[in-house]
Amino acid sequence: MQSFKVQTMSEEANKTNGNTANGISVGASELSLRGDVAADAPNAIEVEHIVKRYGEFTAVDDISFAVKEGEIFGLLGPNGAGKSTLIRMMTTLIPITAGSARVAGHDVAHDPNAVRRTIGVIPQALTSDLDLTVEENLNIYAKLYDVPAKRRKEAIAELLETVDLTKWRDAQTKTLSGGMRRRLEIARGLVHSPKIFFLDEPTTGLDPVSRVAVWEMLTAIKAKRKLTILITTHYMDEADRLCNRIAIVDHGKLVALDTPEALKASVPGSNVIEAHFEHPPADWEERLRALPGVTSVQNESGGMFRVLTANGSGTTTDMVEMAVVTGAALKTLTVQNTTLDDVFVYYTGRQLRDELVKAHAFVMPQSPGLRP
Ligand SMILES: Nc1ncnc2c1ncn2[C@@H]1O[C@H](COP(=O)(O)OP(=O)(O)O)[C@@H](O)[C@H]1O
Ligand SMILES: [Mg+2]
Repeated sequence: MQSFKVQTMSEEANKTNGNTANGISVGASELSLRGDVAADAPNAIEVEHIVKRYGEFTAVDDISFAVKEGEIFGLLGPNGAGKSTLIRMMTTLIPITAGSARVAGHDVAHDPNAVRRTIGVIPQALTSDLDLTVEENLNIYAKLYDVPAKRRKEAIAELLETVDLTKWRDAQTKTLSGGMRRRLEIARGLVHSPKIFFLDEPTTGLDPVSRVAVWEMLTAIKAKRKLTILITTHYMDEADRLCNRIAIVDHGKLVALDTPEALKASVPGSNVIEAHFEHPPADWEERLRALPGVTSVQNESGGMFRVLTANGSGTTTDMVEMAVVTGAALKTLTVQNTTLDDVFVYYTGRQLRDELVKAHAFVMPQSPGLRP
């Protein structure tokens, strides 16, 4: 897969392309961290026509899917899509309104205790005890889950090593960075050796370096243990790199479910061209749409256009020529393969990153020093 970039104003392109602003999503699947799953693996999770209503409001609306043993399965969607509600139902934390969920062969509604024994859960909010040390936080959970003393010691030592916190074992949790706390919670969720691991937005709010560290840790853990992972995220690059399959959820409904490759292949047009023009004429969008191979054009304000095309190089040439002829002054142009962002737009008619800008307007900016 090819991804090339012609850039005359690098800062500009980064500002306008939220999906690549963190610098890790271009050509993301080339750096894929997921392993293969046997086609005949049994189901670890089966969700059938599940519904959650709060009064008149339907938070999860008739969703069905199955997750295979050993799979990393992603629930991808904007804030309010119903991801946490789904996880809470699957992990026995809230009652199901209608439909059913089976986890490790146990019905969530009828046999919640059996489900609880086989799962590890990392909720969306950070929940480790700030006044305890790293090791104490792990120990408390291991005791809570009745892990025998000898096994407890081994498991904690092994997990501390895996999440790279061995030298912080005696540090008070309040002194850890957000990324380290997340890693501590991942270790904590695994002290009782669960078979199925649920993680609700494990990297939200982390800087890009810490996010990649969390992905690598999850992959390393999965390589060592026989684990099925269900993860929710609103980061498309995260879903793309980490997950074997992705369910896109929007307004409580399942809108698409497949491997990242198949989802991208389902969108007409195989390349995305993002081009920034200084003085585009009023009918520029229509002119771009009329070029051979172009399947859709989005005018992203400020002279930025996002063009999906079946012929990346042909359309690029056409666009450059058209810009020269009309004097539309091409400032930047990038070409890449279809991303999950395009998949989201295709299935929902909206951009996930726009949803996130709205939802996360209050989030404090990351420390600039942490950006790669
Ligand atoms: N306890 C609740 N009572 C009423 N509405 C709720 C409750 N929990 C969640 N919701 C609503 O359900 C929808 C889905 O929420 P949630 O599952 O948290 O979404 P996500 O995790 O995808 O951001 C949202 O509109 C949210 O406001
Ligand atoms: Mg949530």
